Amino acid sequence: MDHFLSLADLTLDELRGLLKLAVELKEEWKAGGNHPVLKGKTLGLLFQKPSLRTRVSFEMGMIHLGGHALYLSPFEIQLGQRESVADVARVLSRYVDGIMARVFSHADILELAQYADVPIINGLSDYNHPCQGLADLLTIVEQKGWDLAGRKLTFIGDGNNVATSLLFGAALLGMDFTIAGPRGYEMPPGVWALAQRFAAVSGSHLAATYDPHEAVSSADVIYTDVWASMGQEEEAEERQRIFAPYQVNETLAAEAKPDVIVMHCLPAHRGQEITDGICDGPHSVLWDQAENRTHAQKAILVQLLAG
Ligand code: CP
Ligand code: NVA
Repeated sequence: MDHFLSLADLTLDELRGLLKLAVELKEEWKAGGNHPVLKGKTLGLLFQKPSLRTRVSFEMGMIHLGGHALYLSPFEIQLGQRESVADVARVLSRYVDGIMARVFSHADILELAQYADVPIINGLSDYNHPCQGLADLLTIVEQKGWDLAGRKLTFIGDGNNVATSLLFGAALLGMDFTIAGPRGYEMPPGVWALAQRFAAVSGSHLAATYDPHEAVSSADVIYTDVWASMGQEEEAEERQRIFAPYQVNETLAAEAKPDVIVMHCLPAHRGQEITDGICDGPHSVLWDQAENRTHAQKAILVQLLAG
């Protein structure tokens, strides 16, 4: 693994290896242990968009591993505006040992990876959010065990970057995946086609519907995300109207399995895609997900930067 750009780049063994390492690192940290394998290493955190979880979990992860993180704000670097993406990659490679980047266009992540001499970690693009996906799979494994065959993950809402990483992860691990959202907001056909290739090997059943009730029936996991992602703020009002039938609320969750867990990558727009009752209710694993960002990303950092 040279970079961490998409869960779709991983073999099943690599994905399971990262999850197992994340479990070990979490247990070790909970027991008060240190794992300072990145002593003397620095990770650059390059942001084009705001963040709470991604920034803090990467900074804390580097601290746990004995290294340092350097926050580079959207205003400072102005990726591709003040300086070309390729030149930013070349220059940062002379200063830091790895770069985590959150960008608008996935093409910029690919360009960073092309021109950097150090590993690139995708901290969210318009295409996918693999760090979130890995943390979410860790949370699902904690809640439902390692054998995910026949388990059903239902995503309600926009066929967006978060849905894409979840779809890849589920299809690789052999978990069933169903998405329900409004017409016009389906997952990109290329994403679906790639996931179908993984599913043909793993045995996952992948489905898409416009009916949220059909989608949550017998679900083990319900997942939702904001209706308008960062960069789509101008569409937010129109999307609120279009996505209204796709709110994850108590009525919808009651149609899933009784022990269903509800997930959201956060930040949540409470009262829109998810209700307070669900966020703060017995099915919610939202805060585990947020915590697991640190543990999952530590596994990625150890794989890419140690040694
Ligand atoms: N889930 C997530 O990536 O959160 P931030 O946007 O706060 O980093
Ligand atoms: N889909 C959301 C995820 C935020 C973590 C966005 O891209 O804004």
